[in-house]
Amino acid sequence: MKKVRVLLLGAAFSADLHLDAYSRCRDLAEIVAICDQDPERISSLAGRYGLTDYQTFADFTQAIEKVECDLVDICLPNFLHHDAALAALNRGRHVISEKPLATTVADGEEMVETARRAGKQIYYAEDWLFAPAMGKAQAIIDEGGIGEPVYIRARECHCGSHSPFAQTIRSCGGGSMIHLGIHPVGFMLALKQNRWTELVAMTSGGLQNNMVHKNMEGEDWSACLIRFADGTSALLEANYLTAGGMEDVIDIYGTRGCLHLDLTFSSAISCYSIPGLSYTVEKAEITTGWSKPAVDERFNLGYVGEIRHFMACCRDGREARLGLRGEDGLMALRVVNLIYQSAREGRKIVNPAL
Ligand SMILES: NC(=O)c1ccc[n+]([C@@H]2O[C@H](COP(=O)([O-])OP(=O)(O)OC[C@H]3O[C@@H](n4cnc5c(N)ncnc54)[C@H](O)[C@@H]3O)[C@@H](O)[C@H]2O)c1
Repeated sequence: MKKVRVLLLGAAFSADLHLDAYSRCRDLAEIVAICDQDPERISSLAGRYGLTDYQTFADFTQAIEKVECDLVDICLPNFLHHDAALAALNRGRHVISEKPLATTVADGEEMVETARRAGKQIYYAEDWLFAPAMGKAQAIIDEGGIGEPVYIRARECHCGSHSPFAQTIRSCGGGSMIHLGIHPVGFMLALKQNRWTELVAMTSGGLQNNMVHKNMEGEDWSACLIRFADGTSALLEANYLTAGGMEDVIDIYGTRGCLHLDLTFSSAISCYSIPGLSYTVEKAEITTGWSKPAVDERFNLGYVGEIRHFMACCRDGREARLGLRGEDGLMALRVVNLIYQSAREGRKIVNPAL
């Protein structure tokens, strides 16, 4: 069967997560070209996965123009998602967009509209929806194991982004809520078919008002209470205050029980190391002493399932499932922006559509 030919834009952190997943989907996809303004990052990334037969580009507009491919996978900084997606869609390519869909709602709307007009798909990369632990939790919920879920608490937190673009609102779109909180937001919206009814939020506010990151324009702490049409409530949190490694945690409370999911620290291994390890979990500052070294972190965070789903959809010319379409990325972006509005104005916001 014909493989999906992929042009990968970006060759750093998230591109590595995706390439790891592509290397486990060789039956479905092949990387035909990689673009990054830093050529060393391209060769180093390709080397790690044994790629030899691929084109390289420094300029993504040229790459999109010249490369014969089926899909453009955008692993570029947030503010470039819009321009790269428009160029790719107008060139007749399907697109994977990393989160957030864009830095502004207007840009996100233009992306979704361009895809519709071009008759092409935007696949929105919300990896949480493919975490194997979530699949198991859903099966437990489906068999009635915790009764009716009524309250969910979900958060992504770590000590701060590695990327310079995360420091400014123009290039990131905001602070911790758009960059990390978009995962719990997108995840909850998918779980509830986008049917949110009201929300209220607070953030640290950015710059000198931040708790720790006083030079970062966006907020380093944010939380939102949100309610859904079925009466379920959720507390969604994101912060850059969390030392010791990234926390991706989901707690689900039902009428007959509860579930606690820890996507990052649920390793079966506990290790005590005096010299330290080369790696334990994402964003851990130190690896000495006690740690929980991740066993296949990327698989457990959902990247492998996500790329496999997108490749199968692309091959069959169909849209992704709920939570993973361009319009779902746009809904998550809209909700994040309303979270910011609620925090700024100190008031509850009601969904006018419901
Ligand atoms: N789903 C996830 O869990 C997850 C994790 C990390 C990042 N992301 C998302 O992935 C995207 C990229 O983030 P990252 O962490 O990989 O960033 P990064 O800073 O590690 O990498 C970005 C790369 O883009 C390249 N680049 C920047 N401008 C360019 C241009 N004009 N032309 C060509 N190359 C250019 C840089 O040289 C760099 O190699 C962001 O949108 C981020 O939000 C998602």
